[in-house]
Amino acid sequence: MYQIEQSVKLSDNVHEIWVHAPHVARNAKAGQFVIVRTDENGERIPLTISRARDDSVRIIFMTVGKTTHALAAIPSGGSIADIAGPLGQPSEIKQYGTCVLVGGGVGIASTPCIAKALKGAGNKVIGVLGARNADYLILEDEMAEICDELHIATDDGSKGHHGFAADILKKLIQEQNVHAVWIIGPTIMMKVTSGVTREKGIKTFVSLNPIMVDGTGMCASCRCVVAGKTKFACVDGPEFDAHQVDFDMLMQRQRYYMDQEKEALARWQEHRCTCGGDR
Ligand SMILES: Cc1cc2nc3c(=O)[nH]c(=O)nc-3n(C[C@H](O)[C@H](O)[C@H](O)COP(=O)(O)OP(=O)(O)OC[C@H]3O[C@@H](n4cnc5c(N)ncnc54)[C@H](O)[C@@H]3O)c2cc1C
Ligand code: FES
Repeated sequence: MYQIEQSVKLSDNVHEIWVHAPHVARNAKAGQFVIVRTDENGERIPLTISRARDDSVRIIFMTVGKTTHALAAIPSGGSIADIAGPLGQPSEIKQYGTCVLVGGGVGIASTPCIAKALKGAGNKVIGVLGARNADYLILEDEMAEICDELHIATDDGSKGHHGFAADILKKLIQEQNVHAVWIIGPTIMMKVTSGVTREKGIKTFVSLNPIMVDGTGMCASCRCVVAGKTKFACVDGPEFDAHQVDFDMLMQRQRYYMDQEKEALARWQEHRCTCGGDR
């Protein structure tokens, strides 16, 4: 069992947990993820390592279905059955020059680790954080501390630029020489935003979030198409060249189990109401 040292609600449906997992914390690199199981009968879900310190890792997640709701319901001091990782290939960190990191919604969770690693490699790092509104904006202070410049966009204009992170990225690449870009967020946001850098041929990475099961390259559930070739996001990624990804196929595959996912959440909520159980 792995202890949840701290569990904090960041907004309506976004939670932050610190999990005591020395083997993950000591080996984690920017861009990697873990696979978590809340209890021994639970499903395995992939979540990004948002930060590592001493013997613990931070995970920031949105409650969207059964397992993320169950995870959010575990209080500080509670525990989970497994945390496997670090998994996946680390971000391609090297000296590029000027790098822009665009985080959208809960995708912002991944940005501090990558920003820190890029700074450490001698890059100028510009952060762009986008959220539905100011209440959903996370890690702003942390990113402001790491980045040379930080820009904010909200869909409703409640903070920063009124509009999308893509608008800010467009302006940045018009005004300065940008050498590499990371875009991490919902799939549709990554698809649209990476269009901004395509024309200029700027190296752009996205972190893909297909459905995953084992996380070790054996089940094929995370299959994606990149540059016309089949890739497994869990072992070949999750970061890929944004301009080579078949986003439409990814979005189609993400919807495969929607009916079952809805049913599982409804059953979990019903069980929780009748039995008072959390998992
Ligand atoms: C490498 C990787 C890293 C990830 N890191 C994070 C993270 O740091 N924080 C975070 O909140 N989420 C992250 N995700 C997404 C997270 O794994 C899913 O939200 C989670 O599996 C949902 O489980 P559930 O049982 O709560 O919901 P489900 O019942 O499985 O799904 C509920 C709803 O969420 C959608 N959904 C399910 N899986 C995904 C997915 N992989 N991506 C997008 N939508 C999905 C479904 O279409 C459905 O509408 C990551 C995914 C991958 C592949
Ligand atoms: S999650 Fe099974 S092959 Fe990637």
